[in-house]
Amino acid sequence: MAEMVLTDIDKVYENGFHAVKDLSLTVADGEFLVLVGPSGCGKTTALRMIAGLEDITDGTLAIGGKVVNDLPSRDRNIAMVFQSYALYPHMTVGENIGFGLAIRKEPKAVIAEKVAKAAELLDLTSMLDRKPAQLSGGQRQRVAMGRAIVRDAELFLMDEPLSNLDAKLRVQMRAEIASLQEKLGTTTVYVTHDQVEAMTMGHRVAVMRLGELQQIAPPQELYDAPDNVFVAGFIGTPPMTLFHADLVIEGDAARLHVGDQELALPMGVIDARPSLRALSGREVIVGMRAEDIYPTEAEGRQALNVVVTMTEALGSSVHLGFSFAGSPVDEARLGSGLKNDDEHGLSALAAEGGVQGVAAFPPRIQTRIGERLTMWVDMGRLHFFDVESGRALR
Ligand SMILES: Nc1ncnc2c1ncn2[C@@H]1O[C@H](COP(=O)(O)OP(=O)(O)O)[C@@H](O)[C@H]1O
Ligand SMILES: [Mg+2]
Repeated sequence: MAEMVLTDIDKVYENGFHAVKDLSLTVADGEFLVLVGPSGCGKTTALRMIAGLEDITDGTLAIGGKVVNDLPSRDRNIAMVFQSYALYPHMTVGENIGFGLAIRKEPKAVIAEKVAKAAELLDLTSMLDRKPAQLSGGQRQRVAMGRAIVRDAELFLMDEPLSNLDAKLRVQMRAEIASLQEKLGTTTVYVTHDQVEAMTMGHRVAVMRLGELQQIAPPQELYDAPDNVFVAGFIGTPPMTLFHADLVIEGDAARLHVGDQELALPMGVIDARPSLRALSGREVIVGMRAEDIYPTEAEGRQALNVVVTMTEALGSSVHLGFSFAGSPVDEARLGSGLKNDDEHGLSALAAEGGVQGVAAFPPRIQTRIGERLTMWVDMGRLHFFDVESGRALR
């Protein structure tokens, strides 16, 4: 088991493409770290550098206190699980799990013992004599995990290991992998583009975008206090509603101008975010989470008038898509954060102009598409970001 430290790591591919930029992070001994970000942001590149499958252009990688930049992959004591688990079809489950040990010429008795132990952990004991073709997708995935486990590696590296499974199985395997990692206590770096997977599995989550680390924090902290507008839009389902607004602070009163609407801000909101003080008269980016918006009958100054554009009854709640006049945040800033979540049809709605948002309401609320609604917004829970840098204003 080991701590791993990445310091200012860069990857520039031979064609000059700068895929990973100045990546610095520490993975604690026994930690489950998830690396998440849109497709193409450099996750696999980073993982392959850690594995020793790709040269590190610049910076240092230390595992267990030793710099391993120049250590060949086979000497790094790492076990990897990929999206395609490439089991050998002619071998039994047991042989597949023990294969790595067999080629290392470990004694047969040792192999048998380790395979039996891994099989028990993975609930594969009754399958050891079967061939991969006789297994379900989830069981095959577990065999691939078994292969990694028997190697007694210091570090597990997993690259989208669940992306070939159907949605239901993915949810189940997510929990299985997390609990297995908990039992084994092996330091793990897990790569995914799926923010729900990241949030539910990781002790901490590192969000990447365009080769750069955006924020690294425990899941709830990422959700509650995103450091920038990209993380705000990327983390969370349904996604945070983000829009531009003009902030005005006059004496003991503050307000936001959004399109033709005015929202009163309790002074506590400003007091809790001292950096807003200097921004009176300026534009800011405002974010609101779906659960911080409430249905209300009465119009008030903390209320937002919207038009309902979509309703999605989930049983336990209703997701309500809405729009209002105003200026949305440029999609390019959000990367594929919103597109990632197209179950809410937001990209299609965005084409219609104005600000598109989602609220989570209690079930059985009666609304129709096209209806005008007044919503109450919990201003104390708003998020603010700098228009230029996208950084959180706190
Ligand atoms: N061998 C390579 N040569 C040049 N560019 C590459 C190479 N491999 C990957 N890239 C580019 O580097 C970026 C990051 O890729 P990758 O690490 O695979 O992203 P992710 O795993 O986050 O989807 C992408 O733009 C990809 O096209
Ligand atoms: Mg990848």
